[in-house]
Order: sequence, then C-alpha cells, then structure tokens
Amino acid sequence: MIKLHNTKMLQTLHQSLTKRIPESLKVFGSIFHINHGNPFNLEVLVDSWPDYQTVITRPQKQEMTDDKDYYTNTYHIFSKDFQKLPEILGSDHVINWKQSLTIQGCQNGLNEKISEVVAFKPVHVDYSKRVLYVIDDVLKYCTFNTSKLSISCKVKSSENVMFRSTNDNFRLSLLDISHAKLVNDNWKYGQNERSLRYIKRCLQSFPGYCLLNPEGNPVSWLIKEQTGELRMGYTLPEYRKNGFAKWIMATFMQHLQKNYVPFYGHVEEMNEQGHNLAKSVGFHVVDCNWHEWKCVPTEQL
Ligand SMILES: CC(C)(COP(=O)(O)OP(=O)(O)OC[C@H]1O[C@@H](n2cnc3c(N)ncnc32)[C@H](O)[C@@H]1OP(=O)(O)O)[C@@H](O)C(=O)NCCC(=O)NCCS
Repeated sequence: MIKLHNTKMLQTLHQSLTKRIPESLKVFGSIFHINHGNPFNLEVLVDSWPDYQTVITRPQKQEMTDDKDYYTNTYHIFSKDFQKLPEILGSDHVINWKQSLTIQGCQNGLNEKISEVVAFKPVHVDYSKRVLYVIDDVLKYCTFNTSKLSISCKVKSSENVMFRSTNDNFRLSLLDISHAKLVNDNWKYGQNERSLRYIKRCLQSFPGYCLLNPEGNPVSWLIKEQTGELRMGYTLPEYRKNGFAKWIMATFMQHLQKNYVPFYGHVEEMNEQGHNLAKSVGFHVVDCNWHEWKCVPTEQL
C-alpha cells in the first residue's frame, strides 16, 4: 500500500470518492477532515495511484500507542475490488493485528472478506451491521459530482421544529470537554476510560451540540466524530419526547450544511426511537448499511 501525503493527491482522491457515495462515506468523511486540518492525525493508504481500487484511512503510528484502545485504533475501508482485499487486510503493514482495533466501512460484502482474513489470526471479532442514514444532498453530491454540498436541502430548519413542551427556558449550546464524562456515562458503547479519552478528543476537534435545562445542565446532546458521522445522540430519560433531540439534530445539520461539511449517521436495527428521530429530520436509509468489526487479539481477552 502507498501512503498519500500530497495535498493535491488527497484532494483528487476525495473528489473521486464522491462518485462512490454512500459506500465510500467512511473514507470520504475521514479524508474531508484530513484535508481540513487533520485533527485526529489520520493517514491515507491506497493500493495504487492514480488508479486505486482500495483506500484505507487509519491513525498515524504515533497515535496508536495503546494496544487495547479500539476507539483510537480505527481503520476505515472502501474498495472497488474485493478480490484483493484479504491479501491487503491480512498484511501487518496495513493493519496492526496485535492491537485491539476497530474496522468500519459502508459496503455489503466486506464481512465475507474480513472473515477470510481473521480466520487465520488469533483475533476475536465482534461484527455489527446497522442502518446507514444520509440526507438527499449527500446522494446528489454523488449523482452530480459537484464540488460542494448544496445548501438548498430539505432538512427542516430548527425554527420549524417545535418543542412539544411549552417550557422555553431550555437553550441550545455547544458541548465542551467538561461534558465528556456525561456523554461517556450515557454512551452504550462507552463507559470506560478509553472511550472517555476518545469523546474528549471528538469534542476538542469538532463541535458538539446540547440543550441546557434552566439550571444550565445538558439534557440532550449529539456529537461528531473523525469520519464526519453524527454519533452518541442522547436525551436523558426524564426529558424525552419533547422534541429536544430533533431540535439539536436539525440545528447541527443546518450548521454543517451551511459550511459544506458532509455528515451522515447510523441507527441499530431495533432502535425504533433512533429510526424515528433520523427520519424526522430528513435522513433516508441507504441499502449499503453501516458495518463495524471490533477485533481483540485472543491474548488480550
Ligand atoms: C433516541 C432519542 C435520542 C430521542 O430523544 P428525544 O429527545 O426523546 O427525541 P424527540 O422528542 O426529539 O423525538 C424525535 C423523533 O423521534 C420520535 N421518538 C422519540 N421517542 C420515541 C419513542 N420512545 N418511540 C418512538 N418514537 C420516538 C418522535 O416521534 C420524534 O419524531 P416526530 O417528531 O416525527 O414525532 C432518545 O430516545 C434516547 O436518548 N435514546 C437512547 C439513546 C439512543 O437510542 N440514541 C439514538 C441513537 S441513533
């Protein structure tokens, strides 16, 4: 695999990945942020250039110092040629299989290839397939191959999203690093020291939105991670069904669209509230799905 450092090449790659949205979303979103300051210190690998078939983004080596940190040790994949994938992914130069790590991608069929790779490795794999959500404009981006996301999108503006509660003492605010513990304590896949570190980094790198109650404490929130995905949406149980999550999500989406920042989301298959929330702000399901493999070396189990 070849490391792409050159700014022009990274821009060319990013532009070419627009044609493969939504399947390319994980690497597309990562490279967008690499090209805009690279706050997570990621790097990009391609199998050949300029006629690449496979792209992988991963943290630079100096970032992956904790062998048990699968929040940081994350690889994002897109490939036009599944045949060669097992050989590529099996290489220790591409993926450090001695560490706990996460692989993410948005292509059906990746699981068969990753299963082939791990069959010969002393690694325990936890695979999740979830529903991928995008907005119309991300799909238009693909169809028309424009250089910017259109802002004439159909997402409802925050002004049109009414609270079901009449209480107007709640106000929208940005999350800061002091809220990381609250987000972590309520994130189903977090609640440990490594996830706390990861959330802090997300909040230091990207905006996170919340709604403050009259006492000034967040009661509902949403954050963004290094591939442009909106994640960890949560409303405290006693504040649910007031339209809070919808308001935050609609406002966050508006902000990103105004600034031409791509975004998307995923919801677990059985999470009815999550699906309703996503649809209520204008997201659509796409059939390539959201896939994640959490890999832990058996010696770490
Ligand atoms: C999902 C969650 C964030 C929704 O928060 P909320 O503040 O109650 O949501 P809202 O009041 O803004 O409702 C948004 C939409 O979701 C729907 N919704 C909310 N709670 C629902 C429920 N319990 N069952 C079905 N639909 C529900 C609403 O109908 C609304 O759509 P509508 O305006 O078209 O009717 C909240 O239930 C939660 O924190 N759940 C646990 C974590 C989670 O699942 N996060 C989402 C990951 S995608």
